[in-house]
Amino acid sequence: MSQALPKETPREEGEGGSRRSSWGLLVTAGVGGTLVALYAVATPFVTPALRKVCLPFVPATAAQIQNVLKMLENRSGSLVDIGSGDGRIVIAAAKMGFQAVGYELNPWLVWYSRYRAWRDGVHQNTKFYISDLWKVSFSCYRNVVVFGVPQMMPQLEKKLEEELECNARIIACRFPFPCWIPDHTTGEGIDTVWAYDLKHSRGCETKTFEIAPETES
Ligand SMILES: C[S@@+](CC[C@H](N)C(=O)[O-])C[C@H]1O[C@@H](n2cnc3c(N)ncnc32)[C@H](O)[C@@H]1O
Ligand SMILES: *[C@@H]1O[C@H](CO)[C@@H](O)[C@H](O)[C@H]1NC(C)=O
Repeated sequence: MSQALPKETPREEGEGGSRRSSWGLLVTAGVGGTLVALYAVATPFVTPALRKVCLPFVPATAAQIQNVLKMLENRSGSLVDIGSGDGRIVIAAAKMGFQAVGYELNPWLVWYSRYRAWRDGVHQNTKFYISDLWKVSFSCYRNVVVFGVPQMMPQLEKKLEEELECNARIIACRFPFPCWIPDHTTGEGIDTVWAYDLKHSRGCETKTFEIAPETES
């Protein structure tokens, strides 16, 4: 946090206006920086109030985790939870034998996840990264779990469509993807979970060139 206020520098005489405005800028930047830092620390604790703003930490319910695990029954290999929160899904998947990875923006939650994984004895099969989900590629994962917010689903759908291999399965909690058609659905209400096999949504197996409305080159 750089909150250091500038000292009076008596050199820029006759430029009172611009000096005042740069002061204003510094104060604004300082206050802004402090707010951002406060927000990062406080987010996990005040999320219900901020639910609309971004992707807050709303932990998955026990039923939701059970539904996710059901969707993983026939699956194996690598798994990623995008926005892994306190690591509960990653840890549950690791206990089922997956090599499970979590990406999470909030460092406090990442440290807590690592501690939980160690405490639960699945430290070897889990990894937690402090990363922004929009800045990493998920191309090496065969199983992808996401519990996001409705606003991000269209953009995330596009990103995963571009990155993942045909054998990938994507599992969405609470909020479905807007375009893909789920191959499996389980649970009810807020605990609903959808599974999408990319080979079906993308048509890897059968109709590869059904419609091509985009003019990409
Ligand atoms: C709805 S919570 C789900 C937590 C966990 N997956 C679970 O089911 O218990 C979403 C998580 O995504 C994290 N998040 C928000 N924006 C993110 C971003 N850009 N990159 C990575 N994680 C992010 C939040 O901090 C929050 O912990
Ligand atoms: C698991 O495999 C069985 C047998 O192929 C199939 O009937 C079932 O729908 C699959 N379940 C999921 C969640 O993929």
